Amino acid sequence: MKRIGVFTSGGDAPGMNACVRAVVRAGIYYGLEVIGIGHGYQGMINGEFIPLQARSVSNILQRGGTILKTARSEEFMTKEGRAKAAKNLKDHGIEALVAIGGDGTFRGAVALYEEHGIPSVGIPATIDNDLYGTDYTIGYDTAVNTALESIDKIRDTADAHDRLFYVEVMGRTSGFIAVEAGIGGGAEYIAIPEEQTDYEEIRNVLKGFRKDKTSSIIIVAEGDEEGGAFKIAKKVKELYGFDYRVVVLGHIQRGGAPSARDRILASKLGVAAVEALINGKFNVMVGEVKGEIKLTPLKETFNRRKELDPYLLKIAKILSI
Ligand code: F6P
Repeated sequence: MKRIGVFTSGGDAPGMNACVRAVVRAGIYYGLEVIGIGHGYQGMINGEFIPLQARSVSNILQRGGTILKTARSEEFMTKEGRAKAAKNLKDHGIEALVAIGGDGTFRGAVALYEEHGIPSVGIPATIDNDLYGTDYTIGYDTAVNTALESIDKIRDTADAHDRLFYVEVMGRTSGFIAVEAGIGGGAEYIAIPEEQTDYEEIRNVLKGFRKDKTSSIIIVAEGDEEGGAFKIAKKVKELYGFDYRVVVLGHIQRGGAPSARDRILASKLGVAAVEALINGKFNVMVGEVKGEIKLTPLKETFNRRKELDPYLLKIAKILSI
């Protein structure tokens, strides 16, 4: 193999740049040419191909966002779009891809292989941490820390006013950010898509607020079945009369300098992806499980559900009294 392509796709995640840097430098170290593809699958269709050198990725390790840019491509969802992308890749002599992103990115990589024989190795990068085959995804640690910074500030004002706040964090189909930000921020209750919201339990924890707590924070994952923080807050008010304020943290969770953990994970997985490719391991995701690099078939990463740690769920309850 002589030439590989690297791209970032889907929602950006802090640490994507560190990962691009690792892929480019590891590729060059192992004697490959590395082509950066701009704007993910859309850039493949539009022909955004940029040859990268070791110095092209200087001084990006610590930066949020992605220098390669990212996109959610509607056109790539069509057969014609994928055929265009595959033709461009072949015309540029790109023999294999390193796909940095989440489940949508990996679904695209599988389709490119099945329809056009272009192999990929995936690197998990999404703040949601919702991919099977890795304990953590790149960007998750930073996002939890970003959420926590805001929750700490909200706690100050909540305490000053004896208020109940609902804080909505990201997590379209999973509660990973909510659970860790909730435990780290001392939440009274954590509403997540994996569990039915328990209004009785909310009432019980808020009894403490009525009695002797000077503030209460309920964390809600945006993908919660009830439809987000505003809906839960309204329902609790209707049921039990608790006045409230709602803060939706939104996309700030996607920005900022990656944490040390995300930079290191991105560096490890970037090198591991190139090593997988040169060892002929295709259509797998490189992940880290219990400190070891692990390869998981791409299809499994989005078809199997990654479970929340039940111990974390338990301690969140114990500590909210
Ligand atoms: O997948 C990452 C994520 O940040 C989700 O948590 C969120 O639901 C979604 O992306 C938001 O996507 P967009 O940036 O397209 O609004």
